Amino acid sequence: MIIQIADALSKEQVARLRSTLAQDGAGFSSGKATAGWYVKDIKHNDQASGALAEQVVQEVKKALLAHPVFLSAARPKEFVKLLVSRYRPGMSYGTHVDDALMGGKRTDMSFTLFLAGEESYVGGELVIEGNDGDSVIRLPPGSLVLYPTTSLHRVNEVTRGERLAVVGWVRSFIRSPEQRETLFDLDQAIAGLQGAGVARAVSDRVFKVRNNLTRMWAED
Ligand code: NI
Repeated sequence: MIIQIADALSKEQVARLRSTLAQDGAGFSSGKATAGWYVKDIKHNDQASGALAEQVVQEVKKALLAHPVFLSAARPKEFVKLLVSRYRPGMSYGTHVDDALMGGKRTDMSFTLFLAGEESYVGGELVIEGNDGDSVIRLPPGSLVLYPTTSLHRVNEVTRGERLAVVGWVRSFIRSPEQRETLFDLDQAIAGLQGAGVARAVSDRVFKVRNNLTRMWAED
């Protein structure tokens, strides 16, 4: 399941993060430094590290942990890693699969939170390659795509401007993508029950199913 969340960050938050990352001390350097041999030749981006990048990462974490759709779709146990990524003209990241473990922690879901204005750059689509075809994703600033880390994916070359994003990996309480999707659907159904005049006995059963499936599947 690939999920897009349109309002992960407010316009004010996006503006603040962008101005933080535009400062001289934002600490961008080549992403090759953190790349293993498998991706060294295909990974062409910049990543930020240091106090300003950390400030951005913390703000994104806080916003996502307060977002009901993110919580429902990811059921995060913890953030494994977040980083600020930048692509300038000529930069791209060829097809690859992300590490299953980062710092000893399993990665279940990946996300890209777009920060740059859509008209401010050309290219830079995230392409998630499925056996049933490719999903090509390029979202407005503040919007996020969440997808299973099991997927092959790439970032198309940026030919003009600058693509700025925060990318991250989540360890979920629910390992299986199918089970996560089932619980997400149940959350949606439950949200629809509120104020719908459904008999209490019916909503009791739906809540019971969701909570007991969670209990059955969760790794805490
Ligand atoms: Ni990747």
